[in-house]
Amino acid sequence: MKSRSTAPIRVGLLFSETGVTSVIERSERQGTLLAVQEINEAGGINGREFQLASYDPQSRPALYASQAKQLLLEDRVQVILGCYMSSTRKAVIPVVERWNGLLMYPTLYEGFEYSRNVFYTGAAPNQNSVQLAEFMMREFGSRVFMVGSDYIYPYESNRIMSDLIVEHGGEKVSEVYLPLDASWESYVTVAKKIQATNPDFIFSTVVGNGTSLLHRAYAQVKLDPAKMPIASPTTCDTDVRQMGADIAHGHITSAPYFQSIDTEINKRCVAQYKNRFGADEVTNMCWEAAYFQTHLLADAMRRVDTDDILVLLRVLP
Ligand code: ACM
Repeated sequence: MKSRSTAPIRVGLLFSETGVTSVIERSERQGTLLAVQEINEAGGINGREFQLASYDPQSRPALYASQAKQLLLEDRVQVILGCYMSSTRKAVIPVVERWNGLLMYPTLYEGFEYSRNVFYTGAAPNQNSVQLAEFMMREFGSRVFMVGSDYIYPYESNRIMSDLIVEHGGEKVSEVYLPLDASWESYVTVAKKIQATNPDFIFSTVVGNGTSLLHRAYAQVKLDPAKMPIASPTTCDTDVRQMGADIAHGHITSAPYFQSIDTEINKRCVAQYKNRFGADEVTNMCWEAAYFQTHLLADAMRRVDTDDILVLLRVLP
């Protein structure tokens, strides 16, 4: 009789530890590591541990593509957990499609895409932007200043937000994009433009280190969040820690998860996370998706007892 394999199952990780989006990606990576630890301590996948192969793509789309190829062809993984910016996901898709891997992507995203080689666990626009638009127009008005980082997620999110605003008879006051590595002075210039145009609210899809710079520049020119807040689907608990609670106070975000969710299971999970990674660590919506998608993967693998993605895709929810 053939004995059951106890060989580890290798899984790839592609979260940046350096570069403009490394702060949020570090939390996604650590959420994944916490789940992997729990899975392995509970006996792995029917006795087979998860073993990770991990690279640092430095927040650069081309590196995500080359490292995804390395994971699939040299490290022989079937499944990659990773990516934050949609531009990095777009860079990995041709690779997983060409070599038949599965990317599990734990970040909010813009929609308008389907790949059978990607499993999306972050919020889509119907789970954040729609609710945010309705709330902001009801509470503050519908003259909107849009500011985003210069890549696909902000372009597409602003297109959706523009439709929602126009449907409600509102007006786009301005639409501004800043490079991912834009300077402090560039953010101050945008804050002054906001001051001059006096919108009802600001819709921000700035990501990475720029999020803190935008909010600080807003405070520097003495704008008032009680009258004209920044509303954002991308800004999260981790950004609030980066910019400081005093700077974040009064601004608005929309997400399917916050660290403060008052349930026993969340409190226990956050406590375990802080216990492992440090009391100062903060969870957020992308951390949560990174954590639960790793458990989803493990549950699916246990059921079909394989990491073959064609079989897995039939049982992933
Ligand atoms: C994102 O680029 N999906 C936030």
